[in-house]
Amino acid sequence: MKKPNKRVLDVCCGAKMFYFDKNNSDVEFCDIRQVPRHEFYPNRYIEISPDTICDFTALPFDDKSFKLVIFDPPHLTKCGENSWLKLKYGRLEGDWQTMIQKGFMECFRVLDDDGILIFKWSEIQIPLKDILPLSPYTPLLGQRTGKQMNTHWMVFMKPKNHKNEKSE
Ligand SMILES: C[S@@+](CC[C@H](N)C(=O)[O-])C[C@H]1O[C@@H](n2cnc3c(N)ncnc32)[C@H](O)[C@@H]1O
Repeated sequence: MKKPNKRVLDVCCGAKMFYFDKNNSDVEFCDIRQVPRHEFYPNRYIEISPDTICDFTALPFDDKSFKLVIFDPPHLTKCGENSWLKLKYGRLEGDWQTMIQKGFMECFRVLDDDGILIFKWSEIQIPLKDILPLSPYTPLLGQRTGKQMNTHWMVFMKPKNHKNEKSE
């Protein structure tokens, strides 16, 4: 088992597109693949360079070892073999429902008792209502409508060794 001594685990980080700091040392970045930096479209670059290459259905970490786990699995079944969509997000193949179900189980296994799981899903091809039953637990909260396209989600975590600058 790996012991990264970090508080945050991203089990399928891809190109880390939603990170403000792609080198945050408090995050253990994982993915099943590594893609060297290259230009996939004129002036569009991609790189997938996880700290750990692993499968989210069998994570190499101890139980309850992270405070925050991020799970943003592939969400497309239909995209071209050589498409940029597949390159960026991966593609769901075969019995993907069982894969996502096992992924949820593993995310919750490595999550601390008072930890938080952030799950992201895009309904472009598969509705969320078909995915949520694959989780052993009901979400606490989340976006309940797809109409508000201008909604922003931000996740904050106090940095390690932070100072309460506004408390003095
Ligand atoms: C939707 S993308 C993640 C995008 C990422 N959150 C970002 O900000 O760029 C899904 C990722 O899951 C990875 N993946 C697919 N199956 C996996 C598995 N069984 N274990 C770990 N990663 C997997 C893919 O390689 C892909 O990079």
